[in-house]
Amino acid sequence: MGGIPVSLGPEVTRKMDVQSEVGPVCDIILAAKNVCLLTGAGISAESGIPTFRGEEGLWKTYRAEQLATFQAFIQDPKLVWEWYDWRRGIIASKEPNAGHKVLAEWEELFPHFTLITQNIDGLHQRAGSKNVIELHGNIWKHRCIDETTITENHDVPLKEIPPRCDKCGALLRPHVVWFGESLDGSILHKSFQLSSGCDVMFSIGTSAVVQPAASLPLSAAEAGAKVIEINPDPTPLTGSADFSFRAKSGEFLPILDKELKRQTKQKKG
Ligand code: OAD
Repeated sequence: MGGIPVSLGPEVTRKMDVQSEVGPVCDIILAAKNVCLLTGAGISAESGIPTFRGEEGLWKTYRAEQLATFQAFIQDPKLVWEWYDWRRGIIASKEPNAGHKVLAEWEELFPHFTLITQNIDGLHQRAGSKNVIELHGNIWKHRCIDETTITENHDVPLKEIPPRCDKCGALLRPHVVWFGESLDGSILHKSFQLSSGCDVMFSIGTSAVVQPAASLPLSAAEAGAKVIEINPDPTPLTGSADFSFRAKSGEFLPILDKELKRQTKQKKG
């Protein structure tokens, strides 16, 4: 089989022999009864949505404590909402990429498949994924700070900044997890249960530094799952991963998907 060019880092492109490099990992994936994935901002990078860390990451330009904490919100809700309105505008103008689309198809490919994301952009759902566990919330949802009711809102730009609750008039906040806040206990519990019960765990496009999400692949590894990482850069997870592909997810996932489908067809035929 001929080589397929895969970008293996910001400047390096080399020919990847699909069968020798992706083949062994396909055998493991196809033998799995239960596949679990954790995605991060990197999976949406090729859609044009900025990541948080790295040279062009949001936290290079913006200070998290001024924009992504409850204290910051109470001090200046208008500023915080303007930042979220700006981010909603960026996301709304972008499309899911080839990586998101492969993962949406995998929901049908594997009998037990779990997609856990740290992303709040909703791009997995727009690509067609139906069951997405959102660890950090969703930028398209608002939450009343008094009543805690959650409503969907897709206005771009927002009609009112800061938006207020229709029922009680209190401030609405983005339904996302901010620094210093705990994740939803039941979502977290379910995520750890699923990751520690899988045979294969993917970690895709995440710097693997934000807890508790970063522990999900480790809990899978401890329970005996094979861990597969896809990221152009190494991360703290790399040393514990069974396979770590230095690649962009939007390029690598379609290659892996093609090989998985080829092998499945071959086994059936
Ligand atoms: P980060 O911005 O920390 O990391 C993004 C990762 O994606 C990096 O490791 C990049 O190397 C990688 N990456 C970049 N381009 C890629 C591509 N094309 N394909 C695959 N990987 C690529 O984002 P997260 O790990 O998601 O939390 O960050 C975790 C959390 O930190 C976020 O959910 C957010 C942030 O603060 C909250 O807002 C609560």
